Amino acid sequence: MKTETTIQGLSASLSPARSARKIIGFVPTMGNLHEGHLNLVREACQLCDMVVVSIFVNPIQFGPNEDFENYPRTLEQDSRALADVGCDVLFAPTVEQMYGNQPNFTNIHVSEISEDLCGLQRPGHFDGVAVVVTKLFNIVQPNFAFFGQKDYQQLAVIRQFVRDLNIPLEVIGVPITRAEDGLALSSRNGYLSEEQRQSAPTIFSSLKAAEAQLHSGRDLLAVLDTIRQTLTQSGFVVDYVEARSPDLQKISEFNQDVVLFIAAKLGNTRLIDNLHVKHTA
Ligand code: PAF
Repeated sequence: MKTETTIQGLSASLSPARSARKIIGFVPTMGNLHEGHLNLVREACQLCDMVVVSIFVNPIQFGPNEDFENYPRTLEQDSRALADVGCDVLFAPTVEQMYGNQPNFTNIHVSEISEDLCGLQRPGHFDGVAVVVTKLFNIVQPNFAFFGQKDYQQLAVIRQFVRDLNIPLEVIGVPITRAEDGLALSSRNGYLSEEQRQSAPTIFSSLKAAEAQLHSGRDLLAVLDTIRQTLTQSGFVVDYVEARSPDLQKISEFNQDVVLFIAAKLGNTRLIDNLHVKHTA
């Protein structure tokens, strides 16, 4: 595996593959890789001739009181894990390499879908994601880009601007990787104390309980209330518990497929998860 830290170096590394019309797969990450990320890379290796992974903690997607400074940076460990799963090129640029010394004057705002759910709690977050992902797409020029479905709203925002801006690549969503007890893998799980880690799987168990209640005919809004109560009783501070259609429209009845969304804090750690519940008429 090659490691490149500059845009020029990356272009030189990818040039032979481009000339040979090889299929390039791309997995953008912020590092501190876990099995969820590695599954994205494994999926990319199945579909593509060459796989590029980026590790870049993007300052412009963090709010002023968020964890940009403390976000775990574990480049050496990540690099070993990537080589083991078959990544061909690791792109690990500095902030200066990505943004230069001037402020970024261009913004990418995907209206509506980025203004709901996490967008309400984290204003500007998805604009920051859209800008960096677009820059990375332009730098890597992949045929396929892989994102986890844990960040369901992020995936929807990316699919939307790729379509709206005619970015010539295909976005692939990869199912959530979970720990044995159901907790969705996330780099932020590392912030949890032992006690918080014991409580964290309540997020997934309450989603699964909600699915069973919906299938037994319970009212959707009552089901959402029960999730809120369960989480609060287990020590979470709930940011939101919401239901949307798979394309993120508001719904209040279970008369079609529904995606249940949770964002909740344990101490200072904000966790998110979601579950697609099928409507079987
Ligand atoms: O999901 C992430 O890790 C980040 O939001 C991404 C897509 C790498 C952009 O910085």
